[in-house]
Amino acid sequence: MGNIIVGQSGGPTAVINASLAGVFKGGKDNNIKVYGMINGIQGLLDEKYVDLSQEIKTDLDIELLKRTPSAYLGSCRFKLPNMEDNEEIYEKIFSILKKIDIDTFFYIGGNDSMDTIKKLHTYSIAKNKKIKFIGVPKTIDNDLAVTDHTPGFGSACKYIATTIKEIIKDATVYDAKNITIIEIMGRNAGWLTGAAAITKSNDCSGVDLIYLPEVVFDIEEFIDKVKKLQKTKKSLVIAVSEGIKNKNGVNICELEEENTLLDCFGHKSLSGTANTLARILYKKLGCKTRAIELNTTQRCASHLVSEVDINESFLAGVYAVNVALSGENGKVIVFERTSNTPYNINMKSHNVYDIANVEKRVPIEWIDSKNGTVSNELIEYIKPLIQGEVYPIMVDGLPKHLKLNRY
Ligand code: F6P
Repeated sequence: MGNIIVGQSGGPTAVINASLAGVFKGGKDNNIKVYGMINGIQGLLDEKYVDLSQEIKTDLDIELLKRTPSAYLGSCRFKLPNMEDNEEIYEKIFSILKKIDIDTFFYIGGNDSMDTIKKLHTYSIAKNKKIKFIGVPKTIDNDLAVTDHTPGFGSACKYIATTIKEIIKDATVYDAKNITIIEIMGRNAGWLTGAAAITKSNDCSGVDLIYLPEVVFDIEEFIDKVKKLQKTKKSLVIAVSEGIKNKNGVNICELEEENTLLDCFGHKSLSGTANTLARILYKKLGCKTRAIELNTTQRCASHLVSEVDINESFLAGVYAVNVALSGENGKVIVFERTSNTPYNINMKSHNVYDIANVEKRVPIEWIDSKNGTVSNELIEYIKPLIQGEVYPIMVDGLPKHLKLNRY
């Protein structure tokens, strides 16, 4: 086998670097040179890459990398054109990969990033190139098809649920009416917002209402529901997905002002949902309202990762190298849950064509939008994924991270 190259793409997670560490370790243990793309495929096109053995030198570096938030190599949101429309760009990528004798290209990303693996694999087959393409899953959104869940989701859920438990405590501090709206990421999939439901326990009353983007959001119904709840409870905490929409398909965060900025995959930046709702409720009900947007904290909180998640993320990287060593091509690593109690998964490889650009959403029957709740199935699905802790390595009172030297 020649050398391998690995890139990170799309929005990061708290454990995306654990998968990078896994690919690096998998390569190193097999005496394979591992390159890292800077800013994914976009950087590769400018010939920006590093020899990772010059950056990750010790076992401590690997441990630090696993605990480092954001994408260590930098990321990109870049859509490759179809090969019929721009063959040049493909030839450029393949010639750069040939220059450094790449046998396998690994891409750590979500469903948009798997589009890159699919297109490069398709081109390599069509042009009889010898390079293999393997996807390693990641996304806090958990919206990747086929796999039971995605690396990064469990840690984001752990952070969201922990933070919400703390917010609920704070929200009840005064003996006065107040409403707190918490906005959670996830565009069109409400998996992450579902994490708000796991806060209900014997030491926490849990959130009062939850709204996922899979179901139409009815503002009037919502206001009525809040009014009713206020008759028996002074302090209300409500979890909403950034992507909730009304019956006309308008994002709630755009009710007051349309956002026309799109990324290259056509996705809008959706923040502002909690703020919009807090303003509407304040005008209608006149009580104190507060909007809390968890925003990027939910995908970079490496101080509170789930042990299950960080271990699976690392092993997915190692497994991907083994899949390439066995000669597979055009595959994505997926998880199959074989048991929930005790929790157990198998890792497998699956055809990228079934995964690229497909969005897996929360089953409608797990959502009760009339009552603003989710079913126990969703809670039981999430719970095993948040188990265990892996603490940061602290220096001078702060978590230590691994920093790329060259870029
Ligand atoms: O990676 C997925 C995601 O975190 C979504 O939940 C969110 O809507 C989006 O990324 C935000 O993207 P950006 O990093 O471009 O702000």
